[in-house]
Parts: sequence; structure tokens; C-alpha cells
Amino acid sequence: MTDPSLPADVAALRAQLERANRAYYELDAPEISDEEYDRLFRRLQALETAHPDLDHPDSPTHRVGGAPAEFLPKATHAQPMLSLDNAFTDEELRAWHERMTRVDGRAAAAALAVEVKIDGAALALTYQDGVLVRAVTRGNGTIGEDVTGNMRTLPDIPLRLAGADWPTLLEVRGEVYIPRRAFAKVNAAREARGEDPLSNPRNAAAGALRALDPAEARRRRLRFFAYQLLVLEGGPPPTSHHAGLDTLAAWGFPVESHRTVLPGLEEVLAFTADWSERIRTLEFDADGLVVKVDDVRLQQELGVVGGRIPRWAIARKFAAESAFTQLLDIEVNIGRTGALAPTAILAPVRVGGAMVSRATLHNEEIIAARDIRIGDVVEVIRAGDVIPKVLGPDRSRRTGAEQPWVAPDTCPFSGTPLVKPEGEVNRYCPDPHCPGRAFEAMVHFVSRAGLDIAGLGPERLRQLLTAGLIRNAGDLYTLTAAQLIPLERFADTAANALIEAIAASRQKPLHSLLVALGIRHVGSAAAKLLARRFGSMAALRMASPESIEALDGVGPAISQSLQEFFGDPVHAALLDELARHEVAQHEAVEGPVDGPRPFEGRIVVLTGTLPTLSRGRATELIERAGGTVKSSVSGKTSLVVAGSEAGDKLAKAEALGVPVIDEAELLRQLGPGA
Ligand code: IVH
Repeated sequence: MTDPSLPADVAALRAQLERANRAYYELDAPEISDEEYDRLFRRLQALETAHPDLDHPDSPTHRVGGAPAEFLPKATHAQPMLSLDNAFTDEELRAWHERMTRVDGRAAAAALAVEVKIDGAALALTYQDGVLVRAVTRGNGTIGEDVTGNMRTLPDIPLRLAGADWPTLLEVRGEVYIPRRAFAKVNAAREARGEDPLSNPRNAAAGALRALDPAEARRRRLRFFAYQLLVLEGGPPPTSHHAGLDTLAAWGFPVESHRTVLPGLEEVLAFTADWSERIRTLEFDADGLVVKVDDVRLQQELGVVGGRIPRWAIARKFAAESAFTQLLDIEVNIGRTGALAPTAILAPVRVGGAMVSRATLHNEEIIAARDIRIGDVVEVIRAGDVIPKVLGPDRSRRTGAEQPWVAPDTCPFSGTPLVKPEGEVNRYCPDPHCPGRAFEAMVHFVSRAGLDIAGLGPERLRQLLTAGLIRNAGDLYTLTAAQLIPLERFADTAANALIEAIAASRQKPLHSLLVALGIRHVGSAAAKLLARRFGSMAALRMASPESIEALDGVGPAISQSLQEFFGDPVHAALLDELARHEVAQHEAVEGPVDGPRPFEGRIVVLTGTLPTLSRGRATELIERAGGTVKSSVSGKTSLVVAGSEAGDKLAKAEALGVPVIDEAELLRQLGPGA
């Protein structure tokens, strides 16, 4: 008897998987973890196998990946790019081996190749007479996108094969990835430009592969590992998988080094045993190991299951560490940007070697989509040192007492009605002075990215706020050790150390303060540009939007955001207070005093309004470079720097034949330190 709710369950699973596929493949913005995706996928697969009447050729279980991007030319693969089945346990690995052996008895004693499963984006490279002619993404497995232009910029990919004895037509398959450290750098650079960070190396790689602008592809520091050689014409196929990899290495391809060939399954089980930990120590993200029948002819005989996965290979995956615990409550926080941030309050549980009692629930849509209810037993994961996440509920353990969660309509901190912008998954508190936001803003202000006040983290800040000692970041500078000592966990030394750290932060450069203030779009790169040009907070606050936008690398978004920030009375009061306490108000002129002095002996006259430099700042820069600034033009004047509305001085310079330059030329002559 078929359970009457089954068709609806199957439809819901398909919808969830379709949505996850789209988010992952087409938007490069995954919404659910791989573990959860795998779990949903397997559940659907199991239901379809048990109830063939519910199966459908359009089901996501019959497809590989998502639709190719619209904008890149499409290309058909010479042979489909397959996907791998997963084994999460030794038992599943044994089951795979048995299945294979049932199909062809020779598999029982076949040598197995084991290698790392690189977590990036698959790529197929075609070489004709040893020359790279085409690079195609996996796409849906049959049709991918032609990304030859982008891939030519990738140093790991040979444009011409080394040696000479290659088949006339061959395909090299492999994985494009971004090493962890490179990924961290890419994100640091993005944040410095005020761009959103990329979610993980795999999606960053997949996005870069298909970037329409090869410069963006290059910026992401892509790397490549080859994992398969296909001979299409003019030569014998490699006899074994490992020989194919050796050949690829000889032709100049990077091949991941942790590869081996083992005599059989028992050796594979022994080999994979210590990899669940080891896999995390690689320089790139890897989501498991791949076990393959080494003999290429046997591979061909074993063939493909369901048009989608090779019978002769399997991915041995190691799930991120997870644990089940009860969701006691959902606490609502407000992030620095005002976004509602639901946080799970959990019955404390050990995950990945640490006790976890709070975890992120991302946003209300995810809570609804995963049907997470208060009282549920939920699965929590913690991978590496990332913030713990709630994956989803174990519905089989429901008692009926679980309560669905309803997002609040008003901000719990400011009482303001929350707004949900069209198309966004989050609600926002629109009140810029919301105490919830203010707290997060202060956490950011003192953090390493901001003024870096040692010993002042979220807990201490909350303590100071609760004690009524501070209301905003400016108040920090009025604190005394005597006020702190009576507080809990504040011995004399701790109190004095904190006061000293706060005082020391006053010497920070202006650009650090600009970042600490958390002004929208002002990341560290923009902050440095602004601080260098304007020199002081006072000058920046007075600067016109035009003079800000005239800076190379500073657009209208930054300028407008600054105007909004400065124009807000509460922020203005904070800035006044920080100025009164002389907190990070100035930017030192860069470059050593004994560095090059390109203006040595030159007499310079400034006239008109320069697009970005104030007169004081321009004078300072010229004097640093060894020049002298005079107010009137004479026969001794070496140079006139003219801005808009330059009057008599410009005319006089022209009459005397004194060279006239604009600000851009001045900055060029001053050199990179200016
Ligand atoms: S073999 C027919 N080897 O994993 C064999 N794949 O889930 C199919 N991958 O699309 C691929 N490292 O992009 C193979 N050492 C490796 C791999 C690997 C990463 C990726 C590949 C494939 C996906 C399958």
C-alpha cells in the first residue's frame, strides 16, 4: 500500500533539490550544505526506487548538475561528464565493491586507484596535435559552456603539451580550484574594495571559470589538477588509470600527489581510515577520496549506471562533524547592517571537539524551507573553525510539541517595524540607531578590522553597556580604570590594560577609523584612498561629493554613503566626540622622509580648486617631496598646479611661460607615496 502522502513528499523533495541545484550551479550561491543535499538526494532516490510509479525522467536524480549559463557559447562533450556516487561509511564502500563484482567477477580482485577528490569545478580540455583548442565546463554533463578564453589565462593549464608522442585528439579532465590561502586573499581584496565576500572556494572557482571578464577569472588565482585522460583519436587509450595520470604529469599537468594504487578493497579500507582528519590538512578544499578501478578496459566493461554514474568509481566522503541536539529557542539578533539574524539556542552538545550552545540559523526563509521548529532535535555542524550551523530537524523524533517559529514584525531592540525588501531573504530593521545594530557596530568598531582594541570583545562591551558606562564608541574614551575595577572579572591589571589599549587606539591612522565606523561601501581600500587624499577627518567631513568622486577607485556609491553618514545627526555627534578625544583623526603622509624628493628645489604655485586635494593637503605633499609652495606666480616659479576656476595666476603663468599642470599630473609626479 502506498502511503497517500508519498507523492507530496516526493514532489517536495524534488522542489527542494531543484532549488538547491539552481542556487548551487546557476547562482553560485549554495543554500544548503553538501551533506544535506546528499541526504535529500538519497531520500528521493530511495523513494523512487521503492515506488517506480512515482519516478519521473525529469527528476533531479536523473540529471547531472544545473543548466549551463546563458551567456557563454555551449559545447557538447565528446563523452558525457559523469558524476560520482558517494560512500559515507566503510559499509557503503564494501556494498559498492560487491555491486561491481556482481556485474563482473574480475572486479573482486582488481587493483584500485585512490586519489583526493578536489572540491572545485570540473573542466574538460581538448588538445589537438598537442595544442589546447577548447576548454568546457561540465554544465549538465552533456552540454557545457565554452570557457577557453578564461582558461588560457590559467598557468597550470599547458597551452601546448610537453613531449611529442601524444595522440592526435585527446581530452584531459580535471578540477579547477582555489587553494585556501589564495581564497582568503581573494576575499580580503574583495572586502577591501567593499565587495561582498565569496561564500567558499568551490563556488568562487565555478564563478571564475564562467566569468565573462577574463580579468576577473585571473584575479581569483585559479589552479588546476588533472584527474583523467581520454584518448579520442590517433592513439591507444592508457592501459590503466594511474598510467594515464603519469602521462598527464609528463605532459606538464599538475596531478594531485596523494595518489596511490592498492591491490584490493581491504587495503583501500585501511588507506582511507585516517583520511577523515587528514583531508582537512590539504592546502585546498577536498571533500573526500575517489576510489577507481585502475584497469581502463575493466572500467569500460563495468560501464555506467543510469547514464549518470560510473559503476567503476565511487567517492568516499567524510561528512563534516555533526551532532544532534535540541533546539531550545530561537533568539533574534540584528546584524550591523540591520539584517535580522536568527540564532539557535541549543542544549549544549559536543561537535568537532568543542561545546556548542549557539548556532546560526541564517535567515527566516531557511528556517521555513527546512521546517525547523522550536523543540526539534536538530543536526548541528561545525566544519573547521567556522561558526556552527543548524542543518535541519530530525523529523522522525518529533513529539508533536514542537512549535513553528514566526519571525517578528518589529525589531526586538528598537521596536521599529521590520522591512523586507523585494527579492531579499532577510528582514531588516530600518532604524540606523537601533540598539541591536549599535551593539554590533561597536563590536565592529573595536574589532581587529576596526580600531583593534585588545581585550575588548562582545562580552566586555555588553558588560560596559549594561553597567551604563558607555552608550556608543565615543564613550569608550571617557572610561577610567576606577570605573572598571568594581565590575566583575576586572582586576586592577585588566582594568588598566584595557584603559591603555583604548588610549593607544587614538594613535591609529584615519583609514582605520573610517573602516571602524562601518560606513556602507567603505572597505579598507576606499578608506585608505580617502584618508590619503583628505588627510584628516575634518577635511573629509567638509569635502564635496564631487571631490570625493574624483578620486580614482571611489565611486558615487561610496560618496553618497559618506554624505548620508556624515549628514546623520547621531553619527555627526559621534564624530564630534571622537574628534574631541582626538581618536585616529589623521593620516600620516606615506613614504619615508628620506625617500625620493622629486620636487627638490622647485617652487610651486597652487591655483583654483583641485578635484580631490585640499590646498593644505597639496602643500603638505609638495613640501614632503622637497618643494616649496608660494602664493604668487613670478619668474622664479617652476610650476603652477591649476584646478577649476583658476583665475589671474593661471593667466600670469601662461604669460611667463611657466608650465601648468593639473592635479592628476601633480600626483603622478609626486609618485606612489602620495
Ligand atoms: S573522477 C568518471 N576524480 O567530482 C569519473 N572526479 O562528483 C568522474 N572530482 O565531476 C570523475 N576530484 O569534478 C574524479 N580525483 C577526482 C576528482 C573528481 C574531483 C569531481 C569531478 C566530478 C565530481 C564527481
